[in-house]
Amino acid sequence: MQKLIIKGRKEINGKISISGSKNATLPILAASILSNRVQLKNIPLVKDIFTMVELLNFIGLKTKTSKKNNTIEIINNEKNINTLAPYRLVKTMRAGVLVLGSLLTKYGKAKVSLPGGCAIGTRPVDLHLFALKKLGAKIKIKDGYIFAEAKKGLKGAKIRFPSISVGATENALLAATKAKGVTVLKNCAIEPEIKELIIFLKKLGLIIYLKGRTITVKQKKLKETKIIHRIMFDRIELGTYMIASALITKKSVTIDKISPKIVNCEIKLLRKIGVPIIVKKNLVIIKKSKKLKKINISTKPYPNFPTDLQAQLMVLLTQANGTSKIREEIFENRFMHVPELKRMGAQIFIKNKTAIIKGPTRLTGAEVMATDLRASVSLVLAGLVAENRTVINRIYHLDRGYEFLERKLKNCKAKIKRV
Ligand code: EPZ
Repeated sequence: MQKLIIKGRKEINGKISISGSKNATLPILAASILSNRVQLKNIPLVKDIFTMVELLNFIGLKTKTSKKNNTIEIINNEKNINTLAPYRLVKTMRAGVLVLGSLLTKYGKAKVSLPGGCAIGTRPVDLHLFALKKLGAKIKIKDGYIFAEAKKGLKGAKIRFPSISVGATENALLAATKAKGVTVLKNCAIEPEIKELIIFLKKLGLIIYLKGRTITVKQKKLKETKIIHRIMFDRIELGTYMIASALITKKSVTIDKISPKIVNCEIKLLRKIGVPIIVKKNLVIIKKSKKLKKINISTKPYPNFPTDLQAQLMVLLTQANGTSKIREEIFENRFMHVPELKRMGAQIFIKNKTAIIKGPTRLTGAEVMATDLRASVSLVLAGLVAENRTVINRIYHLDRGYEFLERKLKNCKAKIKRV
């Protein structure tokens, strides 16, 4: 089992380039089932992407990944297509459930393992199935699998999601691509990764409008030509490194290959906490902050503060003056990082869905354990700012979503190594 060892209080300066977005790549990989030739550029070389590619291979698509230039070629020559997503591939990477919409709408049937829960919650898929049924699918759950069928194809429908879900919006959008007639999806998630999926589907020839939280899909014959798409930057990776820089830069850290307007909420919040941020066309410069101020914030769907940055922000607030509050509104159990941070000296108390963080507290290094992708990276941030040495176990969680994390931090003079 690999570990990360961090020597704390080593100030960082320099430049960090942001990789492609994991959460934009995953639904677009699922969408590539609908096409016959796709080339994706700027993909992040992280575990979840390789798992999704393995799933596409299992289904019968041919793929070629070039690590040298972060591209994937995907070919669907329609030979021996297996409309099955097995448990062994979906259990570790729940976004595998996104192939359900593509397989069902294109082949009229799919057998997809229920993704099961994970550290941050039960992660149900009832909203995914709710939408597919509205489009005319016959759904049966048996032996831990979703059996979906649409013998006569899917039919366009008006669907209003009872609550906002990124994955359910993506699955419904994929299923609507070949449903007869018009589909109108209301109360959708509108994360940038969903807008990126819409851009990709438009390249496939679909007519799609997004207005507010309503997505309208007009069925069109899909193009047979090769689709080339460059994946957008990872806004959660960006937020993570903005917070790392705010914690421990000596002078400043420049973070580039981004479009700052997509992270407006995060920039406003960090400035409110007292982090000096210079915004340029495709980069931000985070400068050393004199005094960090407390704030109260809740995690909400885009364009508000994202749940995927909640753990990282919590570390920053341990260094702010006063008592801050973070309310986790999206997932039912996303405070797994708190006990680990408390072992490093943080003063954090949980009351229902709210974490109360007293600051500033001196953190000291400890041996800690990662539980989910974003909790793991919050332990890295804590290790950077803590006295002495921090050892982080189970860093396979990190490898699921952060490309070249040690290298990017080492380039800014952090003392971090993998053993
Ligand atoms: C996506 O997960 C992201 N994953 C998550 O990022 C992110 O935290 C989440 O959206 C929220 O922004 C990917 O994009 C691959 P949801 P998803 O459906 O789609 C409940 C990371 O670290 N819900 O928007 O699974 C659900 O339990 C990951 O990169 C239902 O009740 O999230 C949660 O409480 C972690 N029924 C809430 O909705 C459903 O059918 C939001 O979940 C679906 C979801």
